Amino acid sequence: MKNKKRSKNKFRQSKPEDDADGARTADKREAAEDVKKDPHNGNGENISQMANRKQKKEKVKRKNTEREADGCSAARGENQPEAERLKSGSEGSAEGLKHGAGVQVASTNRQKPELSKERSLKRQKLQKILLRQERVGAEGPVERMQMEVAVPEAAAEQSRSDSLRSRMEQRLEAARFRYINERLYSTASGEARRMFQQDPEAFWVYHRGYTAQVQRWPANPLDAIIAYIHKRSPSLVVADFGCGDCKIARSVKNKVHSFDLAAACDLVTVCDMAKVPLGDDSVDIAVFCLSLMGTNLVEFLAEANRVLKMRGVLKVAEVASRFDNMQNFISALAGLGFKMTSKDTENSHFFSFEFVKTGNVPQNVKKFGLQLRPCLYKKR
Ligand SMILES: C[S@@+](CC[C@H](N)C(=O)[O-])C[C@H]1O[C@@H](n2cnc3c(N)ncnc32)[C@H](O)[C@@H]1O
Repeated sequence: MKNKKRSKNKFRQSKPEDDADGARTADKREAAEDVKKDPHNGNGENISQMANRKQKKEKVKRKNTEREADGCSAARGENQPEAERLKSGSEGSAEGLKHGAGVQVASTNRQKPELSKERSLKRQKLQKILLRQERVGAEGPVERMQMEVAVPEAAAEQSRSDSLRSRMEQRLEAARFRYINERLYSTASGEARRMFQQDPEAFWVYHRGYTAQVQRWPANPLDAIIAYIHKRSPSLVVADFGCGDCKIARSVKNKVHSFDLAAACDLVTVCDMAKVPLGDDSVDIAVFCLSLMGTNLVEFLAEANRVLKMRGVLKVAEVASRFDNMQNFISALAGLGFKMTSKDTENSHFFSFEFVKTGNVPQNVKKFGLQLRPCLYKKR
């Protein structure tokens, strides 16, 4: 009967769930048979003793499995404390640890599926702490080294950019000087005065540039004029037209009226020298040192004639290249009431003239149309 049933089942088409049911039924049957057949095993154990033994066996088996799972770390130092192992071995560097941490966690997860979640979290925490410690330790000297290198590099970079900026500023200032200088030579004095009024800084740019130019010259014609005044009586009154930094006033004992479009020092009377605040026939020596700049220069000379006493002295020094025709200049001056008494045209850079006032200027000075070439500085 039993065999019949079995043979029936044997040919029954099996379904997956049937297989599982079948397996479970077979296990139960086997266990029951075992109990029935052998209530004591060969060692004379009863069922509960057997169950205990089975549990112990499983425990040992689990431990072994754990050790095996630790095999990859064992290769790197099986008996090291966990912290030690994480610190050394293949995760030797912070970077290695960083990546290694991920890898190790991954491999741990892969190889030790039975590791408790708590333990795995603990391990991850430990790895993070070690990683942080290693980073701090590693960055210290490296950062210090980088700082040591970076500080002089930054200083060098700063000085490079400072010198570049200063060169650019110098070029800009030189360009501004050339521009202002050109304006002074190519416009009438009224416009030059307006320029300095509107932009007082332009006056300083001009004066700094001019001072720099003077330092390149082998001699300054102003010194010869000062030497001349020194030889004369200190009681003589001097008018310095276009005085700049008032070097004459600062160098002689005489009374000096210093006129300029702006004040480079407190001795300056700011005005357009085409019209100075002095009475007629009040001055003994009138000076134009490199200052016949405006296109209306004839008006300056006429103003000097007005303030000069009869037989008063007119000193003129100008850049040699400004004279296209020196004789025309001397003739124009004669027309303005000045007789030339001496000239120095041997100097390659500057021409110097001395005139005396022999007469008053005629009314219609503008028709003289006296011009000198502008003195333009080259771009260096
Ligand atoms: C080249 S600098 C010479 C400065 C001084 N005479 C020297 O030899 O050191 C010419 C000076 O003339 C001044 N100047 C030019 N035109 C002027 C004007 N119309 N009225 C007053 N000063 C003038 C300029 O401002 C400048 O200071």
